[in-house]
Amino acid sequence: MRKEEKKIFVIIGVSIILIVAVKAILGHYNTTDDQGIPFYSTASKEVSNRALLIYKKNECQNCHTLWTKRNIMQTVPAPPLDGIGSIRTEAFFYEYLSAKNPQSILPSRLKKEFQMPSYAHLQDDDRKILAAYMASLKVEDWYLEETKKREYEKLTGKKYNQ
Ligand code: HEC
Repeated sequence: MRKEEKKIFVIIGVSIILIVAVKAILGHYNTTDDQGIPFYSTASKEVSNRALLIYKKNECQNCHTLWTKRNIMQTVPAPPLDGIGSIRTEAFFYEYLSAKNPQSILPSRLKKEFQMPSYAHLQDDDRKILAAYMASLKVEDWYLEETKKREYEKLTGKKYNQ
C-alpha cells in the first residue's frame, strides 16, 4: 500500500468513528421525541425488594402486568399495576389485600377463577409491604393526561381540550 492510500484509509476510518460518536451523543441527549417509560416507583430499594419477593411468591404476575412484564402463558384480563399508585392510596391497597372478599370492594364481572383472590391469609407485614409498594407505583402526569385524552376522543369522537 502506498503512503497516500494509507492516509486516505486513516481519514475515512477517523470520519466514521466521529460520525458514530456524534450520533451516539446526540441520541443520548435528544429526549424530546421519546419521553421514555412513564412509570416509576418512589419506594426504597429495601421495600421494593421485599415486595417483589412476596409478589412473585404469590404469583401476582400470572394475572397482572408490572413493569410491563407478566406471565405470557396466562390470559387473565386483570388491570395492569404499573402506575396504580397514582390513582389509589396505600390504605386502599392494604384494605383490598386484607379483604376476605375483594369483590365487595371492587366488583368483578369476570369468572370466579380470574377474579382477584383474597390475600387475607398473608402475614400482616407482607400485606403492609405490598400495599406500600403498590402505592409507590406512579405514572408521569403527561401520560395520564394523554390516556385521558385518547379515551375521551375515542368514546365521544370529539376533540379533547383541557
Ligand atoms: C387469578 C388472577 C389474579 C391474581 C393471582 C392476582 N390478581 Fe390482583 N386482580 C385480579 C383481577 C381480575 C382484578 C380486578 C378486580 C376483579 O376482577 O376481581 C385485580 C385487582 C387488583 C388490584 C386493584 C386494581 C385497581 O384497579 O385498583 C390490585 C392492587 C391487585 N389486584 C394486586 C394484586 C397483587 C399484589 C397480587 C398478588 C399478591 C394479585 N393482585 C394477584 C386478578 C388477580
